[in-house]
Amino acid sequence: MKKICVIGSINMDVVIKMDRIPREGENIFCERVDHSCGGKGENQAIALSKLGADTLFYGCVGNDAFGDTLLQNMRELGVDTTHVLRKNVSTGVAYILLESNGDNRIIVNPGANEAITAEDIRRDVTPLIEQSDMVLIQLEVSLEAISEIVAICNRLNKKLIVDAGPVRGCKIDRLMGAYCISPNETELSALIGEPLETEEDIRRGAQKLVTLGIQHVVVKLGAKGCLYVTTGGVRCFDAYRVKAIDTTGAGDSFMAGFCAGLMEGMSVEDAISYATKCGAVAVMRMGAVNSMPSREDIAIFEAGL
Ligand code: RIB
Repeated sequence: MKKICVIGSINMDVVIKMDRIPREGENIFCERVDHSCGGKGENQAIALSKLGADTLFYGCVGNDAFGDTLLQNMRELGVDTTHVLRKNVSTGVAYILLESNGDNRIIVNPGANEAITAEDIRRDVTPLIEQSDMVLIQLEVSLEAISEIVAICNRLNKKLIVDAGPVRGCKIDRLMGAYCISPNETELSALIGEPLETEEDIRRGAQKLVTLGIQHVVVKLGAKGCLYVTTGGVRCFDAYRVKAIDTTGAGDSFMAGFCAGLMEGMSVEDAISYATKCGAVAVMRMGAVNSMPSREDIAIFEAGL
């Protein structure tokens, strides 16, 4: 069976549910505050396992209570945590402001995710990449770790899929050699260092990545679906019209579905269609990790179409 290696962030999500976010200078009461397990890396690794992919996971938590909880949660969900590093720093925390219409705003205190060094990657991750057929990363760990992963994948000629969120100061040069890059509109704009205002701008931005040598660019457009851009042209995929309860983790579910599809031998187009279903199921549920669909969930969703 093919293997995928996910290298990425692990966060404790502090979800603050409110009617709407406060205006400047305004003081509001929230509806409730929940703690749940998250982090783009952890969400995607758990989703891939639930979708049936043979998944290796590498990340880092602190030597604190959040780190203990997150490790236990991953184990309970069937993720092998042997390769999760612990450091004497605090575990990553994401503060998620969730509005009643399902929209969210996220502020991350990266903690241990940012403490992963290039040396950690060389020492611990090289053997994991060697035994994998595909590698999936996001940009929620240190940029020096990202550069090292890209270099190792290029050297070992491994298919690297990059979820370009959160983009921070990362420019496209750091990701050259990746097989597929998947940003949202904001991330695409930051990657190429140009403002993108219209749909035409977004297409041109994605085409620029292709011109620079990225074979497959998948721009996630939320409720509008996504754009798939290659040297062969542009194809639009609509999102399913579903009632969104919480959009947190929808992109993670999409990325996991996309990679799971590729691992099963689907074409890129078919993998995007599968990913679109995974994203739709995730937005109909609360939470990040908790909203990740299983293979059976997708089969039920397909049966209802
Ligand atoms: O993509 C959703 C994730 O982003 C959340 O789980 C949160 O931890 C942030 O990293």
